[in-house]
Amino acid sequence: MSAKTITIIKPDDWHLHFRDNGMLLETVPATARCFSRAIVMPNLVPPVVNAEMALSYRERILSARPNGSTFEPLMTLYLTDKTTPADIRAAKKAGIVAVKLYPAGATTNSDAGVNALDTLYPVFEEIATQNMRLLIHGEVTSKDIDIFDREKVFIDRYLCHLTRQIPELKFVFEHITTSDAVDFVLESSANVAATITPQHLLMNRNDMLDGGIRPHNYCLPVLKRSSHQLALRKAVQSGSKKFFLGSDSAPHEKNKKESSCGCAGCYSAWSALELYVQVFEELGALDKLENFTSRNGPDFYGLPYNKEQVTLVRKEWQVPESIVLPDGERIVPFYAGQTLQWQIAN
Ligand code: NCD
Ligand code: ZN
Repeated sequence: MSAKTITIIKPDDWHLHFRDNGMLLETVPATARCFSRAIVMPNLVPPVVNAEMALSYRERILSARPNGSTFEPLMTLYLTDKTTPADIRAAKKAGIVAVKLYPAGATTNSDAGVNALDTLYPVFEEIATQNMRLLIHGEVTSKDIDIFDREKVFIDRYLCHLTRQIPELKFVFEHITTSDAVDFVLESSANVAATITPQHLLMNRNDMLDGGIRPHNYCLPVLKRSSHQLALRKAVQSGSKKFFLGSDSAPHEKNKKESSCGCAGCYSAWSALELYVQVFEELGALDKLENFTSRNGPDFYGLPYNKEQVTLVRKEWQVPESIVLPDGERIVPFYAGQTLQWQIAN
């Protein structure tokens, strides 16, 4: 008999995008529904490049929490070519837990990101000294590199060197998508971990391109071939402590996704936890679920486990076809209109 309910320590989401202002009234409650904490990405316009900006962004997020919610946003700083070790020290003092590295041009709102990674080593050293975490969008941006190869080339060009030069730096290789990334993380020290999204566990590039182009499955790093998807599934199935939940929930308005030049990002906050449960069940690995959702992340960040629990029940429900924002704009959520097998109880 398969289980009818699952109770786990309330999870955290170690990588997501809330956006700002009016959008927060949608995104913050959607995440607070089932996550206690979340690492909030700083790729706003303009980006969150100093402690002051991070603290005021944090206040806007706190104001958007539903009444009585104890949800805690964990703030991050956006690295640019101009970030200094003093900026890192100020961020640490302000309670910022991590620093985000976007190679310039790699993804949504990353134009102000890093052009010359090699020149930032003093900043990386300071991140290690301050016991903060570095969060890496691991893709090269060179136009001559095929988009499906950009993660592997980033490992070869940058990550191998970084782990050799600053072995004490704790970093998260974010939203990994390839067997190369899985191998790199497993072969590295305990200071290297990775997040994995629901879409990269559930899908491969056929789900984006076969039978018509499906913009709501388009995200960066882009979905890869099925052998890579299988490698990611094996990684979570293994129960390794190096992998943890990071949904990369990333809303864009419907008309910006369904466009001649559509934005990258899947808005998965409405279903992310349930989709992870579905994947672990398919893999016969439900015994590994709670570490992935609720322990491996806090352990890597040196934070306590959450005290609350969350229960999921086996019950079919449908993800809405679209969500209306407070300003009347629409978002099509990830997995829109599809039926899920697990639902959060209450
Ligand atoms: C993210 C976004 O929209 O901000 N998009 C995405 O496809 N994942 C940025 C990112 O995490 O790369
Ligand atoms: Zn992201």
